[in-house]
Amino acid sequence: MSSLLLSPEEKELLAGVAGSGVQRAMEIVVTLGRIYGAPDLTPISHAQIAGVSYKNLGDAGVAFLCEWANEGAHVRVPTTLNPAGMELERWQEMGFSPDFAQPQIAAVQAFSRMGVQTTMSCTPYLFPDYAPQRGQHLAWAESSAVVWANSVAGAYTNREGGPSALAAAIVGRTARYGYHLPANRQATHVVEVNCPLRTIADFGALSYIVGKQVGDGVPYFADLATWLPPLPDEITQGGEAGDRLKSLGAGLAAYGAVALYHIADYTPEAIDAGEALIRPHAHRIVIDSLHPAYEIMDADAATTEIDLVTIGCPHASLSEIRRVAERLQGQHLSTRLWITTAQITRTRAEAAGWVQIIARAGGEVVADTCAVVAPVRSLGIKRMATNAGKMACYAPMHSGVQMRFGDLDQCINAALRGYWSAPAPHSAPNPHSGAPV
Ligand code: F3S
Repeated sequence: MSSLLLSPEEKELLAGVAGSGVQRAMEIVVTLGRIYGAPDLTPISHAQIAGVSYKNLGDAGVAFLCEWANEGAHVRVPTTLNPAGMELERWQEMGFSPDFAQPQIAAVQAFSRMGVQTTMSCTPYLFPDYAPQRGQHLAWAESSAVVWANSVAGAYTNREGGPSALAAAIVGRTARYGYHLPANRQATHVVEVNCPLRTIADFGALSYIVGKQVGDGVPYFADLATWLPPLPDEITQGGEAGDRLKSLGAGLAAYGAVALYHIADYTPEAIDAGEALIRPHAHRIVIDSLHPAYEIMDADAATTEIDLVTIGCPHASLSEIRRVAERLQGQHLSTRLWITTAQITRTRAEAAGWVQIIARAGGEVVADTCAVVAPVRSLGIKRMATNAGKMACYAPMHSGVQMRFGDLDQCINAALRGYWSAPAPHSAPNPHSGAPV
């Protein structure tokens, strides 16, 4: 372990001057700093906490949080919360049991007592008040959001664990190592893509191929900007480019352990530094087809009946909700459809009338949760379909469901018919122009 330089104030926090809750947080931050050889701690602007669902926390996790809150710990920086295991307002209506709901509510209340904003979303970067800024140091735990913050926003964060992100929020600092240091933000792999990328699902399939090969490295996409419209200045609406990048980053973090990527002439550090960002002897990956990824991600090809179609992983943006509403106008679904999103986004979508259109068709815009962190098997859901790469990876693993993976049209068709039947999108002749699906 290296020697970690602490300021006089940090030494006092570690000694317990500010109480046992803060001392516990400081111990976690300092221990991580020593393990990873950090020279010192750095102030953070914002924290994002993952590991919120009772499904993951269990009774021991809830007790740990309540104890920390009872010790008087309180966050010092704006801090947001990942999705919980259920929608907080409508859990009874949605069929969640009180045995699950009560400890889940206790966990959220413990976070709230510590001053955490109960935003219950994995996309804090879409919130007007929390969108990360270039050069800010953060302590974010949600892996898909970490990729966005580092890559798209040009902020600095490691992939924190749930407790370490909370600890960093309580002391307002994190250990300065990993992606907080410019030297670790250089690309380890150069990726060339020689096939069209037309849909959000295509970006998920790309994330599978790259994530599997890169692991925890840093990919530099040499030509991906071709398939991306410019990012709007106001990203909180989502938009075509944002929705594609949201899917790409989440999949890279799920199929690999990527926390940062660069896109030539597109993402902020690549715009500034260009190929100087690429390490000497970086590996080269050439992708000629997404077909192998679709074959693996669309894992249960024998499954045709679908219990739940789920859109919004990471949580759906306004533009994704609008696209679903446009396709469902005047239609009637044959199976359950969840568009999972943040409460704040649902409120904005309600104001636009899109939530009501989806509800009239028989679908639900579900806030606060998703089909990975919710106990979907207890709701009778065994067979799912999605257009999201991360959902295709995690739901079979964490929820034990069978999964079909395809583009938005395939998913909507499955929800309308109750069974999966459309051809795989990679085989459809379609230039990359047109609306994302
Ligand atoms: Fe978010 Fe759930 Fe996907 S937390 S990134 S919607 S698995």
